[in-house]
Amino acid sequence: MSNRIQQMPNQLINQIAAGEVVERPASVVKELLENCLDAGATKIDIDIEQGGAKLIRIRDNGQGIHQDDLALALSRHATSKVRSLDDLEHIQSLGFRGEALPSIASISRMTIISRQVEADAYKVQGQDEQSADISPAAHGFGTTIEVRDLFYNVPARRKFLRTEKTEFNHLEDVVKRIALSHFDVEVSLNHNQRAIKLWRAATDLKSQEQRIVEVCGKAFIEQSQSMCFEATNLKIHGWIALPSFSRSQADMQYFFVNGRIIRDKLVTHAIRQAYQDVLYHGRHPAYVLFLQLDPAMVDVNAHPTKHEVRFRESRMVHDFLFRGIHKALADVRPSDIQAESNQAEHNQGESSLIKNTLDLTPATVPNRYSDVQTMANTSGATLPSVPSASGSMQSTSFGRSAYTGPTKQSHLALQVNEQIKAYANLSRGLSETNHLPKDLPDSNDIPPLGFAVAQLHGIYILSQTAAGMVVVDMHAAHERVTYERMKQQLEQGTLVSQPLLVPISVNLSEKEAELAEEQSELFSELGFELDRSGPESLRIRQVPVILARADAEMLVRDVLSDLISYGNSNRIREAINAVLGTMACHGAVRANRNLTVPEMNVLLRDMENTERSGQCNHGRPTWTEFSLDVMDKWFLRGQ
Ligand SMILES: Nc1ncnc2c1ncn2[C@@H]1O[C@H](COP(=O)(O)OP(=O)(O)OP(=O)(O)O)[C@@H](O)[C@H]1O
Ligand SMILES: [Mg+2]
Repeated sequence: MSNRIQQMPNQLINQIAAGEVVERPASVVKELLENCLDAGATKIDIDIEQGGAKLIRIRDNGQGIHQDDLALALSRHATSKVRSLDDLEHIQSLGFRGEALPSIASISRMTIISRQVEADAYKVQGQDEQSADISPAAHGFGTTIEVRDLFYNVPARRKFLRTEKTEFNHLEDVVKRIALSHFDVEVSLNHNQRAIKLWRAATDLKSQEQRIVEVCGKAFIEQSQSMCFEATNLKIHGWIALPSFSRSQADMQYFFVNGRIIRDKLVTHAIRQAYQDVLYHGRHPAYVLFLQLDPAMVDVNAHPTKHEVRFRESRMVHDFLFRGIHKALADVRPSDIQAESNQAEHNQGESSLIKNTLDLTPATVPNRYSDVQTMANTSGATLPSVPSASGSMQSTSFGRSAYTGPTKQSHLALQVNEQIKAYANLSRGLSETNHLPKDLPDSNDIPPLGFAVAQLHGIYILSQTAAGMVVVDMHAAHERVTYERMKQQLEQGTLVSQPLLVPISVNLSEKEAELAEEQSELFSELGFELDRSGPESLRIRQVPVILARADAEMLVRDVLSDLISYGNSNRIREAINAVLGTMACHGAVRANRNLTVPEMNVLLRDMENTERSGQCNHGRPTWTEFSLDVMDKWFLRGQ
């Protein structure tokens, strides 16, 4: 080959571009479907043959392509979607590169037929603009694009195609994602002349949930929580699975930014962090979430396949997602579940095993149960609670000045111990009748988790509820209640720090050392004191007492690496929570410890008032409800 420089032929340029965006039939389907949506289609029909290798035909009822533009559609860098850099920075459409059709045309036999309103239909065939052959055709309003024999002229690529079934599965995944991204669009999918899916336009919540059931399965929707969270210019809404519906793989995570599906490590990190406290180790959350924000706040021009985006205010977005999802998870309370279960009974009249994992609309915990709690309190049962933050918790300021000597540590430790022993110290000599409401006026006055009836096998609390009965794992439940209290106390009070006898020297890159200096406020809020001891070194002088035994150097390194990647880090909090979690676990009532009925009722009321009380700290459920319907079924009553 001579070393003289030559201009590449058009087709080769397009084929190289195709290498980036068209990996397999599924990628063609993604590009074509995005074009349909950009054209405002409300109905899309997809016909596939042989996993897409032989034929992909997609028809839409969108605005169509002008007759004079048909050849241009096959030309590289030709698009109707952006005209200037300013357009690009405020892009609302899914496409903007003007590359998909010419790329696909260069590696397949492609035909476009299109008709605009008040115009005739035309057809274009060809590899590129120059070879485009335009002729009249018959077609309704909209566009059909047919892609035959994908990779017929790129044998190296064809070899990478997997079996028909595998390719079709990939393709179906793409269609599902598009179906989730635009509920209002009807989509049908046929494979080898067989109807595979038909999603009718879903305009109300019920039909949207039905679409989610078809994509994610029934269990997901039954065990998820719908959520919506807004801040200025930002909105996140959708469905998040309750922690008890976690997955072994990160395979049920749908995240859309302004209608575009994306995979983004910042997003994944923020969501993981929100689930951190309630997810069983090594499990992955499931979700279908839609983030809406001003298009100017996100750069979609980050990758040719547009799977990745860059948030201009990444830290703010991270924080927003974390807060929204964390709050939604914290809002799941027993009271919500009861409302749902009652409704389910009325609506369907069918039996249902009401798990503590039903889909709920967030509600506040009603105050009407406080009477019961007061009754329990006044009659002698002490709540197994930590002293209130305003009471005995010392309040010092965070950070450098927080250290006031070792007494504080023992003070904190004492309080935690008190908390841990609280149940053990509960008075045993209580008269049970004092704590059982004597007459229950009507079912509206029964708290969501009902009133305890008995303890089973030293492990479970059996409680009668308005809808039936609840079985509570008392260790798991108490563990969560204790843990949430300790966290709350820590947040309201002070994180006590202690200086290290010998400061720890940490060698890092200059960038990390600078960042550590910049973020010294953040570190001191979390009880760390760091000194820059050289261009590439730091000294850790002080750590929170609760982390005295943790690997401070590793924590600091990990926090800095998080800050570099995500602009945010929760590691120190996580480490503190892990210690609290262990304390709570050891401090929670153990199996085979007899609880009196009043003690059990106190625990039930505590659960109702505690965030995330549906799961223990390890993500296991803490309680399950059986409705009367279910029980009637067991005994064939009323059948
Ligand atoms: N189904 C369709 N309905 C109406 N117009 C279409 C359709 N598909 C493509 N077009 C027109 O053809 C043009 C080229 O499409 P192509 O997908 O190649 O580029 P793009 O969508 O503009 O950008 P990208 O390469 O990022 O997808 C589009 O800008 C659009 O005007
Ligand atoms: Mg496009």
